[in-house]
Amino acid sequence: MFIKNITILGGMSRSGNPEPVQRIDLNMGDVVSIVGPTGSGKTTLINDIELFADRNTQTGRCILIDGKRPPLEYRDNPASNPIALITQHTTFLSDLPVEDFLSTHARIRAKDSSQIEAMIANTLSFANQLTGEPIILSSRMTELSGGQTRALLIADATVICDTPIVLLDEVENAGIHRTRALELLRQHRKIFIFVTHDPRIALLSDFRIVMQGGSIVKILHTNDEERQFSIKVSKLDDMLSAMRDKIRFGERLTTHELEGLA
Ligand SMILES: Nc1ncnc2c1ncn2[C@@H]1O[C@H](COP(=O)(O)OP(=O)(O)O)[C@@H](O)[C@H]1O
Ligand SMILES: [Mg+2]
Repeated sequence: MFIKNITILGGMSRSGNPEPVQRIDLNMGDVVSIVGPTGSGKTTLINDIELFADRNTQTGRCILIDGKRPPLEYRDNPASNPIALITQHTTFLSDLPVEDFLSTHARIRAKDSSQIEAMIANTLSFANQLTGEPIILSSRMTELSGGQTRALLIADATVICDTPIVLLDEVENAGIHRTRALELLRQHRKIFIFVTHDPRIALLSDFRIVMQGGSIVKILHTNDEERQFSIKVSKLDDMLSAMRDKIRFGERLTTHELEGLA
């Protein structure tokens, strides 16, 4: 599936005023964050995109793909939908082993059956780089932890489904290795849209969509100062993760933990 860009045409705020930002174009390869306080409309914006809103949702927004209204097939046929949405609340209704879940998906998407095994192996290895708790193929889907579930879904969307647009709603609370995720995701040419308040992800994004009162109030492109600064933020974040691990394993922390943070 080949898509060049996606356009968000603005609608109304919660109080019925036109959104300050009336058009956003996202190009293939862009990594974008959506930020804003709780209740500001972040999930609603993600849902508008996933639904290919056509002035028919509560926000009145309209979504275009390559400058046009997307074909109905995108919505009606899951195999041709270019969008994967991963939410905090995604749970599995099926109790299949991980291997069966992945092979079912791989069989739908693979061009020939000789690829299936490699697709499953790649997906599993991708997922296991995202989560600290390795997933095994024989685990049942319903036994996976929140972090494992999110990791598997991100890997499935990226490797097997290979959808050009991936939406992630607040994944940082889910035990996902964030920088690793961004590094891996950046290797795949896609549009990634994260709802996040994580400074590390926000600064590694090309720009941030700022939400308030149900509307898009501004766009902040990551500037040079932020780009420079993001290296230090990532370092600090790694240090905090290491400290979290030490606390988890019952160790003491020392002032050395912050060494190297200039
Ligand atoms: N533009 C809008 N017009 C009307 N209602 C909106 C709009 N944007 C958001 N809402 C409503 O506001 C509430 C909070 O939005 P939500 O997207 O869940 O916020 P967030 O994800 O930022 O916490 C939801 O009930 C949603 O339906
Ligand atoms: Mg939300």
